[in-house]
Amino acid sequence: MKRWRIQVKVTELPVPEKVKEATLRSGIEELYPPQEEALQAGVLKGKNLVLASPTASGKTLIAELCSLNHVLEKKGKVVYLSPLRALANEKFVEFKKYTSIRKTNGKRVSVGISTGDFDSGDSWLGRYDVIVTTNEKADSLLRHRVKWMDDISLVVADEVHLLNDGDRGPTLEVVLARLMQVNPDLQVLALSATIHNVEEIADWLNASYVITEWRPVTLKEGVLLHEEIQYKDGDARKIEKKTRDPTINLVLNTLRTGGQALVFVSTRKNSVNLAKKIAAHTGELLSKPIKRTLENEAEKILSAGERTHISESLAKLVECSTAFHHAGLASIHRRMVEDLFRQRKIKVLTATPTLAFGVNLPARTVVIQDYRRWELGYGYYPIAVLEYKQMAGRAGRPRYDKIGESILISKTADEADYLMDSYVLARPERIWSRLAVEKIIRGHVLATIASDFAHTENGIYDFFGKTFYAHQYDVKAIKSIIAKILKYLYDEEMLDLFGNEIYATKFGKRVSELYIDPLTAVEIRNAIRNEPTYLTDLSLLHLIAHTPDMGPIMRPYSREFDKLGVLMEEHREEFLTHIPSEFDDQIGYQEFLGEVKTAMVLKSWIEEASENLLIEQFQVQPGDLYRTIENAKWLLYATHEIAKLFGNKAVLPLASELIERVAKGIKRELVPIVKLEGVGRIRGRIMYNAGFQTVADIKHAPLEELTNLPLIGPRLAKKIKEQVGGFVKKETWEKLEKGDEWKQKSLGDY
Ligand SMILES: Nc1ncnc2c1ncn2[C@@H]1O[C@H](COP(=O)(O)OP(=O)(O)OP(=O)(O)O)[C@@H](O)[C@H]1O
Ligand SMILES: [Mg+2]
Repeated sequence: MKRWRIQVKVTELPVPEKVKEATLRSGIEELYPPQEEALQAGVLKGKNLVLASPTASGKTLIAELCSLNHVLEKKGKVVYLSPLRALANEKFVEFKKYTSIRKTNGKRVSVGISTGDFDSGDSWLGRYDVIVTTNEKADSLLRHRVKWMDDISLVVADEVHLLNDGDRGPTLEVVLARLMQVNPDLQVLALSATIHNVEEIADWLNASYVITEWRPVTLKEGVLLHEEIQYKDGDARKIEKKTRDPTINLVLNTLRTGGQALVFVSTRKNSVNLAKKIAAHTGELLSKPIKRTLENEAEKILSAGERTHISESLAKLVECSTAFHHAGLASIHRRMVEDLFRQRKIKVLTATPTLAFGVNLPARTVVIQDYRRWELGYGYYPIAVLEYKQMAGRAGRPRYDKIGESILISKTADEADYLMDSYVLARPERIWSRLAVEKIIRGHVLATIASDFAHTENGIYDFFGKTFYAHQYDVKAIKSIIAKILKYLYDEEMLDLFGNEIYATKFGKRVSELYIDPLTAVEIRNAIRNEPTYLTDLSLLHLIAHTPDMGPIMRPYSREFDKLGVLMEEHREEFLTHIPSEFDDQIGYQEFLGEVKTAMVLKSWIEEASENLLIEQFQVQPGDLYRTIENAKWLLYATHEIAKLFGNKAVLPLASELIERVAKGIKRELVPIVKLEGVGRIRGRIMYNAGFQTVADIKHAPLEELTNLPLIGPRLAKKIKEQVGGFVKKETWEKLEKGDEWKQKSLGDY
């Protein structure tokens, strides 16, 4: 093994002085060896590079230094691609430390983030020097042919091994191929975990590569059987048997020695149940003042967002310094839990793999309780080595711990051997392109033509010839899929032929910009083409639930079938798509019931059902609810735009109203007053019921009448009045401001 000697000091770096100062201020004085190697490979001289090194080895810093060099020395512009929104946020915050630096033109370095709203060119984003974004957002910007994208001089692709991911990978490779096509001088910096075929990815990107095994904090990987941990390096140690559950014993052992534990499980239910079991033992380890702090934090969790069974059980656990983290949690709660774990107030966190990638957390011990995962249609399967390494890599992060350990849990000696061989000692797999799937590539083929990247069949093959897929296989392998898609798009009137040239029709262009699957567009167009006889909220809500872009619809539980069947019969006339027969097409029928369920959840939401009721009635957790709401807003907007294109007048007002109602979860009558900042569905309903039904009602009301309402404090009342152009007397304000403080606590939309 190579012996490393840390040589390069930050003060000696070939970057502007101000960048060195900002780096030093963040506590970094010397480069880590992988960072040094990246420099030697010419990353600061504009060379393309794949930096493949272990978790926590400081890949982000290289991206930061390289970005700053582009902005300050070359007047360049940088796009930082992150596969996940949460990670994009973390990186955005990290880049912020450079915004006090001035460029040669006297202006400060600016950093922007954009992760949502796909039908927007976002020309404002072009003002920023560094733009942090998700792969999908970058793809949609490219479809809009946003001008500033031509000025990008550096693209950073974080977690590039996710090329292997069926959902995110294809978009990433298309974005990289397109950026390289648009801008041949572009520098590409790809950050990756250590994987099997780094060379192949580098070859595709025309890059050199650095592969290291170095990690700043030792990570001891091992397997626990009963009370004994067997480590990779041959060490072993026993842990105290406090309970019958080895996972809990290991967690308690970590706590007693002053560390924090992050436990990965495979399902949401497991994360909640395990957190409860652990919390039963953590109480005795907490001092009185800490308990008081935790009670306070628990209270904050309850008052953030709507109160549900889930937030209540989370708050209870937080009192015991324990929490769970999964995609069913509302994002505000997820963020609070991450922050509390970072602040070391929560000592134990049980999580689904949502926390596996890229994040920096103070977990001295990572416990991997489940190495199997279950998926509909596949059953149980063992996770990939790459994923195991990512989870393990959350332990022992430089800013937090001096050592980290990652332990797999086994039940038998055979299983322990299997885990040691198949994960701890195993090399991560090869990365394969996942592009060649019709459903995935359909939208990219349309976009290639609609955004003028190619206008001939060969031009299209040329473009797809630049993808990682073509590099790994051969473009011939997807030619037949592309040909089939071209025919489909032509038949559905999204493409038109002029001699040998292919152009997008107005419809095709709009579909591409809306960032929806062409199939979704066809479903919507066909459903509303002939003015429907019955057009209700449910008609449109079901229509969007029926499109492939709604994503995994809410699968009904078998006990729900009867109820949904009855509902479906009652509303039969309102559906705009074909209803499969219960007897001839059972699978289709069940899928339809799933769509009805999704539509009913959205319908209840806009009838102002509480989040808790939605959990009870439909088993839909807040995280899923909000994801569905996001998708619904986007698809209702798409429906609106397609209706506009085809002149379906009846659909337009209904779709616009539904967009607002779905966004806020309100009945029609609240639409005017929830436009006010600080007024959401809950306060809006309170105000409406108290007689404040229009902007005029509020404008003329005395301030005290507003502050007499629940959940509205003086500060908010004043803000509301000011928004409607009302007047607040100085004496009234002073008198009120002294009163009820608790009401002033939450000022967000509620
Ligand atoms: N040279 C350095 N000296 C001290 N700390 C450093 C140095 N470089 C990076 N760090 C710190 O190390 C931590 C991990 O860095 P980073 O998040 O970039 O890791 P990573 O290689 O991207 O890991 P992952 O593969 O898990 O995403 C960060 O908190 C970062 O501030
Ligand atoms: Mg990283």
